[in-house]
Amino acid sequence: MAYTIDLSGRIAFVTGASSGLGAQFARTLARAGAAVVLASRRTDRLKELRAEIEGEGGDAHVVELDVTDQGSIKAAVARAETEVGSIDILVNNSGVSTTQRIQEVSPDDYDFIFDTNVKGAFFVAQEVGKRMLARAKGAAPGSYTGGRIINIASMAGLKVLPQIGVYCMSKAAMIQMTRAMAMEWGKFGINVNAICPGYIDTEINNHHWQTEAGQKLVAMLPRKRVGKPEDLDALIVLLASAQSHFVNGAIIAADDGFAI
Ligand SMILES: NC(=O)c1ccc[n+]([C@@H]2O[C@H](COP(=O)([O-])OP(=O)(O)OC[C@H]3O[C@@H](n4cnc5c(N)ncnc54)[C@H](OP(=O)(O)O)[C@@H]3O)[C@@H](O)[C@H]2O)c1
Repeated sequence: MAYTIDLSGRIAFVTGASSGLGAQFARTLARAGAAVVLASRRTDRLKELRAEIEGEGGDAHVVELDVTDQGSIKAAVARAETEVGSIDILVNNSGVSTTQRIQEVSPDDYDFIFDTNVKGAFFVAQEVGKRMLARAKGAAPGSYTGGRIINIASMAGLKVLPQIGVYCMSKAAMIQMTRAMAMEWGKFGINVNAICPGYIDTEINNHHWQTEAGQKLVAMLPRKRVGKPEDLDALIVLLASAQSHFVNGAIIAADDGFAI
C-alpha cells in the first residue's frame, strides 16, 4: 500500500503564483487536493494557470496582490477568505532579486528588495496568521486542525553569494522571521517553516544560465546542475500537510547540497 498525503478540504494561498516556483507550488498543492488561491500582480498569468489547474480537475481562484501595498495585502486575503474560505496553508513565495556589487546598490535598489522580500512577506504572513490565530483561539479545545505557513527563503539566506548581497540579507531576514513566527504561533497549532531553494531555473534567473558567468556558476555547483521547480513538489506537500505537525521553525535547504 502506498503512503499518500491528501490535502482535500484545505485552502492554500500562494503568493507569486504567476511564474516559476509559485506556479509549480500551486499546481502541486491542487494535485494533492487543496483548493488554491493564486495571488500576485499579473492576473492575466494567474488566470491562465487557473484554467490549467481546472483543466486537470483542480480547484483554483485568482486574487490580485501587490505585497508592497498594505491595502492590497488586506484586500487580497479578505477576498480569498470570503470567496473561497479560511486559509489553512500560506505559501509566502513572492520575491525579487537584482544583480549588483555592494558599492553599486542605490537606496531604491535596496528598498525594491526589502519591500518585497522582507516587509511584503512579513505582512502577508501577519495578515493570514492573525486570521489563523483568531480561529485557533475561538475553536473548541483540541478542535483546530492547524495552520501551515511556508516561507520561501533561499540558500542565499544561509550562504552569501557575490553580487546579490542585498538579496542574501533579505533572505536571512526571512529565515529569522520564520523562527520568530514559529516560536510565537506554534502553540496555537500554526506551524511556520522555511524552504531554502538552491538554484532553480525560473524567470528570476533564466537569462543567466547561457551566459559565460552562468556556465561558470553551474560548474561550481556540487552536482553541476540547476534544479527544476518540480524538484520541490514533495517538500511543499509535506510542509502543507497535517502529517508535518511535528515540524515547526525548520529551515530546510533544498539546494542539492550547495549550502553545505
Ligand atoms: N529560482 C531560484 O533559483 C530561487 C532560489 C531560491 C529562492 N527563490 C525564491 O523563490 C521565490 C520565487 O522565485 P522564482 O524563482 O519563482 O521567481 P519568478 O519566476 O521571478 O517569480 C517571482 C514571483 O514573485 C511575484 N512578485 C514579485 N513582486 C511582487 C509583488 N510586489 N507583489 C506580489 N507578487 C510579487 C511575481 O508575480 P507578479 O509579477 O505577477 O506580481 C512572481 O510570480 C522568490 O521568493 C525567490 O527569491 C528562487
